[in-house]
Amino acid sequence: MKRIAILTGGGDAPALNAVIRAVVKTATKIYGWTVIGIEDGFEGLLTEPHARPLGLDDVRGLLPRGGTILGSSNRGHFAVRADEAGNHVKNEAIYKEAISNFERLGLEALVVLGGEGSQFIANEFYKRGVPVVGVPKTIDNDLVGTDLTFGFDTALDIATEAIDRLHTTAESHDRVILVEVMGRHVGWIALESGVAGGADVILIPEIPFYIEKVAAKVRERDEQGRHFSIIVVAEGARPAGGQAVYQEQGGADKVARLGGIAEQVATGVSRITGKESRVVVLGHLQRGGTPTAFDRMLASCYGSAAVRAVAQGKFGHMVSWSCNEITTVPLNQCVKTIKTIPANHYLVGVARDLSISFAGAGD
Ligand code: F6P
Repeated sequence: MKRIAILTGGGDAPALNAVIRAVVKTATKIYGWTVIGIEDGFEGLLTEPHARPLGLDDVRGLLPRGGTILGSSNRGHFAVRADEAGNHVKNEAIYKEAISNFERLGLEALVVLGGEGSQFIANEFYKRGVPVVGVPKTIDNDLVGTDLTFGFDTALDIATEAIDRLHTTAESHDRVILVEVMGRHVGWIALESGVAGGADVILIPEIPFYIEKVAAKVRERDEQGRHFSIIVVAEGARPAGGQAVYQEQGGADKVARLGGIAEQVATGVSRITGKESRVVVLGHLQRGGTPTAFDRMLASCYGSAAVRAVAQGKFGHMVSWSCNEITTVPLNQCVKTIKTIPANHYLVGVARDLSISFAGAGD
């Protein structure tokens, strides 16, 4: 009988609890194993570990519940610290402490639910001998090695509903409304919700924009008698030759916080066109609350697949959704880079066919 651990790392995402439920049910009922929940991400393995057994009673009713019953942490970079010269360096002692606690708890495998940052740390644990299996989470859908991360579908639905609602009020008042969505380095939420919601302009980090082209699209619509416009802006979007907008700069012990680009675009559009504009920042609304049916299904598949991967000894792998099948991929192939939108992605072409502008060099 095995004792396996599960933790949730990084920013939360809808359906984390659905994965936890699937892991506990599969491990307990199919294999007769014990599952230990590590609280507050990898940090829960430090000092006096925060760990508790998770039984069937603990996961009852979890399928529709947002957040994570285990808690999470995305404030820092786990084992990275600044040295005296201010350089970011890996602190080996932190890994040692976490791994010795892992062994002290009698754990035989670690299932890590997390995005690119957490899977990077998971791979570091694996390289140091910990039997790890990853499960791809993030609303940004920017993890390499899987077509889809869980949480993305729910965020997409929330953003699309917001765009639908903003359409009616924008039209009533002849306004330009900008919706800032999450997407630190990638524009998947902006692109897909923009197409699904019928935006007029979509600004994404992968296509640096020209404010004059954003304004030109608004003007063009005005001339066609469409006196309102909807602009979807990924938080990481930036003007050509310019920088992304940060609320807070990052450091060795904290992750940088983006936000504010939509406000800048709104100011520019109003200045050039003379039109009234308003900004809505969706923020954490995209991460909270109940997951969609698709995310619950995907999370359930991932949870059961992660336990089966442990049973087969497929450590150092991440479960993945590829061409409508569940499979596994080596972790080291998932953590070297992130999945950005290629310039020739079919959906970029579809958007342009539907008169959506990216206000980039090619628009
Ligand atoms: O990685 C997911 C994400 O939602 C990003 O899009 C966003 O920048 C970040 O998390 C914000 O996280 P928090 O506000 O929790 O630090």
